[in-house]
Amino acid sequence: MPKIFVTRKIPEAGIKKLLDKGYEVEISKKDGVLTKEELIWALKEKEYDAVLSLLTDAIDKDVFDATPKAKIFSNYAVGFNNIDLEEAKKRGLMISNTPGVLTNTVAEHTFAMMIALACRLVEGDKMMRGGKFVGWEPELLLGTDLSGKTLGILGAGRIGGGVARHAVKGFNMKVLYYDVSRNSELEEKYGAVFCETPEEILKNSDFVSIHVPLLPSTKHLINKERLMMMKKTAYLVNTSRGPVIDEAALVEALKNGTIKGAALDVFENEPLLAPGLTDLPNALLTPHIASATEETRSAMSEMAATNIIEALEGRTPPNLVK
Ligand code: GLV
Ligand code: GLV
Repeated sequence: MPKIFVTRKIPEAGIKKLLDKGYEVEISKKDGVLTKEELIWALKEKEYDAVLSLLTDAIDKDVFDATPKAKIFSNYAVGFNNIDLEEAKKRGLMISNTPGVLTNTVAEHTFAMMIALACRLVEGDKMMRGGKFVGWEPELLLGTDLSGKTLGILGAGRIGGGVARHAVKGFNMKVLYYDVSRNSELEEKYGAVFCETPEEILKNSDFVSIHVPLLPSTKHLINKERLMMMKKTAYLVNTSRGPVIDEAALVEALKNGTIKGAALDVFENEPLLAPGLTDLPNALLTPHIASATEETRSAMSEMAATNIIEALEGRTPPNLVK
């Protein structure tokens, strides 16, 4: 029977699917991310046929060496920048991800952050808990309307498209987008306007939301120079990958009033934060939970299992990364 290694406990749905197939499933017992040494050690214990990995696992040549029999690494995430794809290709190893099922959830979290930032929800909550509320005031914690504003989307894939939909249908916002390729559906359905460059987005948006994958070409897509192109009144939201933003430069920009605020679900050196970030009242921070709903994490678990089953039964996994 095929043997599967799961690098950390995940919702039961996918595990059940694998067990129902009669597979032998070994789940890491560590309540935390396995270090590279621990992961290699664990993989060498048995001849695993497949590995279900997480975005917090750095999967490289050494890890592949520890599992010579494995056919597939099924990543429990839509992003797969944690895996050395070139090396996997060389070895004929399959890599899969979990796209689609988390699109709406991440788009909702993105909007939750955007609204919370603009309506100063967290600052308000903090004030209440701190016993600082002394009564209604005409100019207490003034926020910003979303309605009628311009949202610039960097990366118009599935998630960027979901965010555009909420912006237009729910909040009557105008949408600009930049991507390496045009998205005609976004243009037709939501009147989104294509911009030739990220700069054009930054100069003209009241809110900027990032939905690109992490690639060499998107690392520090948002840097000091580009932050300076944004409106002083603009907000930046990132639910993609931390290294897309130069976090130290962002801290400076938030401190100096270069931009008005930022909401981040992902960080450049997770779980570490750039010095000064947590001191800023105009930064809203969540711990990489944009896809974390009961429904979605369960669906991701099933999808990751399905990819393994298809690969081991000799078919093409539906979410093979090419
Ligand atoms: C989450 O960050 C994911 O890539 O699924
Ligand atoms: C990910 O699902 C994306 O394409 O945005």
